[in-house]
Amino acid sequence: MVLQNTIIFVLMVLFSWNIYGLSLHCHENERQALLDFKKGVIADPFNRLSSWVGQDCCKWQGVGCNNKTGNVVKLDLRNPFPSSDYLEVIEVNSSLLELEHLNYLDLSQNNFTGIKIPKFFGSFQKLKYLNLSYAMFGGIVPHDLENLSMLQHLDLSGLNLYSMSSGSLPSSFPFLSSLVLSSCGLDEFPSFLSHANLSLSLVNLDLSRNNLKGSIPQALLNMTSLEHLDLSDNNLKGSIPHAILNMTSLEYLNLSFNELSSDVPIINELKKLYHLETLDLFSNSFQGKVGDFENSLFPSIGYSLKTLKLGDNNFSGHLPNWLYPLKNLEILDLSANHFDGPIPESVGALLRLKELDLSDNLLTGVVSEVHLAKLSKLKFLSLSNNFLSLKIRSNWIPPFQLDFIYMSHCEVGPQFPEWLRTQTTLMVLHMHNSDISDSLSNCYGNLSSLETLDLSYNQIYGKVPPLPRHITILDLSNNKISGPIPKNIGHMIPFVEFLNLSNNSLNGTIPGSLCKMQNLVVLDLAFNTLSGTIPSSIGQLQKKLGTLHLNNNKFHGEFPSALRNHTRLGILDLGENALSGEIPWWIGKDLVALQILSLRSNRFNGTIPPKVCDMANLHILDVSRNNLSGTIPTCFRNLSGMLLLNGSISFGQYTQEIMQVIKGIYLEYHITSEVELPFNLDLSSNNFVGQIPEELTLLTGLTGLNLSRNHLTGKMPENIGQMKRLESLDFSSNHLSGSIPPSISAISTLETLNLSFNNLSGPIPTGSQLQTFENSSYIGNSELCGFPLQRKCFHDEQSHAPSHNDRKGQPEGDHLKINWFYIGIVSGFAVGNWGVCAVLLFKKTWRCAYFRFCDDIYDWLFVFVAVRAVRLKIKLKCSEVQD
Ligand SMILES: *[C@@H]1O[C@H](CO)[C@@H](O)[C@H](O)[C@H]1NC(C)=O
Ligand SMILES: *[C@@H]1O[C@H](CO)[C@@H](O)[C@H](O)[C@H]1NC(C)=O
Ligand SMILES: *[C@@H]1O[C@H](CO)[C@@H](O)[C@H](O)[C@H]1NC(C)=O
Ligand SMILES: *[C@@H]1O[C@H](CO)[C@@H](O)[C@H](O)[C@H]1NC(C)=O
Ligand SMILES: *[C@@H]1O[C@H](CO)[C@@H](O)[C@H](O)[C@H]1NC(C)=O
Ligand SMILES: *[C@@H]1O[C@H](CO)[C@@H](O)[C@H](O)[C@H]1NC(C)=O
Ligand SMILES: *[C@@H]1O[C@H](CO)[C@@H](O)[C@H](O)[C@H]1NC(C)=O
Ligand SMILES: *[C@@H]1O[C@H](CO)[C@@H](O)[C@H](O)[C@H]1NC(C)=O
Ligand SMILES: *[C@@H]1O[C@H](CO)[C@@H](O)[C@H](O)[C@H]1NC(C)=O
Ligand SMILES: *[C@@H]1O[C@H](CO)[C@@H](O)[C@H](O)[C@H]1NC(C)=O
Repeated sequence: MVLQNTIIFVLMVLFSWNIYGLSLHCHENERQALLDFKKGVIADPFNRLSSWVGQDCCKWQGVGCNNKTGNVVKLDLRNPFPSSDYLEVIEVNSSLLELEHLNYLDLSQNNFTGIKIPKFFGSFQKLKYLNLSYAMFGGIVPHDLENLSMLQHLDLSGLNLYSMSSGSLPSSFPFLSSLVLSSCGLDEFPSFLSHANLSLSLVNLDLSRNNLKGSIPQALLNMTSLEHLDLSDNNLKGSIPHAILNMTSLEYLNLSFNELSSDVPIINELKKLYHLETLDLFSNSFQGKVGDFENSLFPSIGYSLKTLKLGDNNFSGHLPNWLYPLKNLEILDLSANHFDGPIPESVGALLRLKELDLSDNLLTGVVSEVHLAKLSKLKFLSLSNNFLSLKIRSNWIPPFQLDFIYMSHCEVGPQFPEWLRTQTTLMVLHMHNSDISDSLSNCYGNLSSLETLDLSYNQIYGKVPPLPRHITILDLSNNKISGPIPKNIGHMIPFVEFLNLSNNSLNGTIPGSLCKMQNLVVLDLAFNTLSGTIPSSIGQLQKKLGTLHLNNNKFHGEFPSALRNHTRLGILDLGENALSGEIPWWIGKDLVALQILSLRSNRFNGTIPPKVCDMANLHILDVSRNNLSGTIPTCFRNLSGMLLLNGSISFGQYTQEIMQVIKGIYLEYHITSEVELPFNLDLSSNNFVGQIPEELTLLTGLTGLNLSRNHLTGKMPENIGQMKRLESLDFSSNHLSGSIPPSISAISTLETLNLSFNNLSGPIPTGSQLQTFENSSYIGNSELCGFPLQRKCFHDEQSHAPSHNDRKGQPEGDHLKINWFYIGIVSGFAVGNWGVCAVLLFKKTWRCAYFRFCDDIYDWLFVFVAVRAVRLKIKLKCSEVQD
């Protein structure tokens, strides 16, 4: 009985609720329209539309109704988890037009699989908010959207705006207050910006991440109602126009990542923007001595400014005293300028500071408690790459809990700072080259949340202690750490992606637990005294491993067959060990991604397997100082990675993965990388016999070719002159005969030449710089004659010599020309890794953001010069210094 009543009651409730829903809350035509829309959704991995069942569509997730009429007024399907939980939509049924009362439509961050934006979206006459950003619509944005005359907020970021940039769009948007057109591929400022209506109504304008060129247009400066203006990441040039001072409502001004330059006076004047909370000028070409605008910059806005980023410009002079009035400052980035002198104590009075970045300047003096004692909100502290020393009482207890500490190249040691032990939330600690001579076990107290630890280039000693479990980047290289690598290292730090223990005194064998580090991309154990054979467990790292340095140890045994499935390996350096046996035939078949292979100075014997020629990405091959024999394979001509293709080669997959390692630091930008690299072939000090194949000269990308100390016979290749990039050529100590081919003088890039100790004869070709080499380049060839040798030629064959005109077409005048040859030379020790930094040369947007990382992580002893040079170049490119 009770049960029956209950059932009736429930039925009644359901029924009445149903009626209620139908009549008051959801119109059937609108419900049907939504269901039609749902039919076009082919994937919904997060079941976001699972509530789209039943009668009352007003209760469906993302649907909002007018609470009096029951009409659908809002459709908000924004993907809350961009880059994973896309709705995949293959069609938008036009019955959606039934939602004629719609005023809010947000489809952002979903996957509309390249279909066109439906023209009928232009018919939602009441629409006030339209957000289609990053929704993967294809084609161009239809003009019909211009009919949305009630629109207040429009976001079309990430869509192709071609048709709108010149269109009449905004005349029909009298109420538009927010316009977001980020990443829309705009080449120029859309002409509609000059429309009078827009300049009155617009409060928020975001044109970031386009290709806007030229200077900031007047039309934009006329928009005096703007509060939020983002022009970051474009190609804007020129100075900040004075008219910007009329934009007195500005609260947020982001001009970062452009090429703006300016005289100090205008920056000086920015103080008139009373409401400014964020001023971001990061990565431009602004310059001037801050002394010039000291005391005048910012005092009046002192109370509003929260974020000030002047980093990566050319500002110089002492750090300004105007810092003091900026009492609300939370983020201060003055990094990568030419600021010098001490850090003023007034920094210590910025009580709300969360981020302080003074890195990459010329600052001097002492950093003490005075600077830090009141900064209780500080989370990010970067002092790296200055001339600072940290002098802090050993019992000092800081008021902050930092997440990020960068103190590379600061004088911090000799002991690990005591106060570090109080930091329990630390995620990143960089103390590269910080004069620390302490035992590694004194480093961490509570650093259990550490994810990145760089203690390279110190004098740290002792054994490897237990390590923080969540570490992903660990660089302990160039220290005095001794003893074995802990047997359980793979269990201890299973998430590590970058592991560098090189240049220490580690001994014993590589522990098998290594295979637990399934995320490992870079493994560097070079320059230790590790011994034994290379464990087969290394084979299990095949999923991600891109760089493996085991060089300069005492490994013996054969070439590790465990590497066979490493299809992603880009750099493999096994040089300077005691490995023996033959080079396996399969490396050419299976190690398809290999770009750099060094087997230098081992005991490999047998011939070079022809399959090596299939390695299409190889651009450095160093097998010098082994016992290899046989002839130089003519198939080397197939090493297409060593051909010159438009002067550059593609990095491909491998670099992208390296970049993944850096994620969480800055990674936010896409990488499409092409760069000039050294291409090196070194077969020296083996037992190769026979002729130098003429085909070798087809490897036109080579910058270094070393065949010295073999038993090669016959003539030098006639067409050697077509190797136009060659900077170093060494054929010395063979049995080559005949004359030096005249074409050689066409190689204008040649910096080192060694043909000594052969049986060459005849005159040394003249022209170009062949005579600028020492006679040691030619000695030991009894029949060779002409300058610079003492021996004179009897026949004048010099008319064959090419004239200086042959140098035409060579890229000249790069005063910063990196001496890739030396990189080639050192490649036997520690090849690669500068490569990662080298790719940073491409897109300014991330180029500048990364270089500090490169400096901190990648300047290892033997690539030191190279990385420095690259870094210098990056810096110069960022700031466009003419020098
Ligand atoms: C109905 O909507 C109006 C305005 O749209 C709002 O002020 C009111 O609080 C809403 N009532 C309910 C019950 O949600
Ligand atoms: C829209 O949905 C209706 C009802 O499901 C269907 O009949 C019609 O073919 C659909 N229109 C398009 C263009 O797919
Ligand atoms: C559009 O949606 C994105 C998230 O998908 C959001 O970040 C952005 O602020 C929105 N645009 C506007 C103008 O509200
Ligand atoms: C979007 O959907 C299409 C079609 O299903 C698919 O091929 C594509 O990979 C998806 N894009 C993303 C980024 O998920
Ligand atoms: C937009 O307006 C134009 C001109 O008034 C008209 O031709 C077009 O059909 C309209 N588009 C939509 C989708 O309503
Ligand atoms: C800027 O505004 C002034 C006065 O309001 C007007 O005369 C001028 O044409 C505008 N300039 C542009 C480029 O819109
Ligand atoms: C600011 O606006 C006023 C009035 O519109 C105008 O006279 C003045 O020239 C503008 N200032 C600058 C620097 O453009
Ligand atoms: C490693 O080096 C230490 C001295 O630092 C020595 O006592 C130990 O025997 C060595 N172990 C191996 C396996 O060579
Ligand atoms: C390589 O992969 C194949 C199949 O994927 C597997 O059978 C073989 O054992 C693997 N070899 C090594 C050395 O891991
Ligand atoms: C290579 O050296 C091994 C000993 O390490 C020897 O057994 C083998 O015969 C040699 N092979 C050749 C081709 O010389």
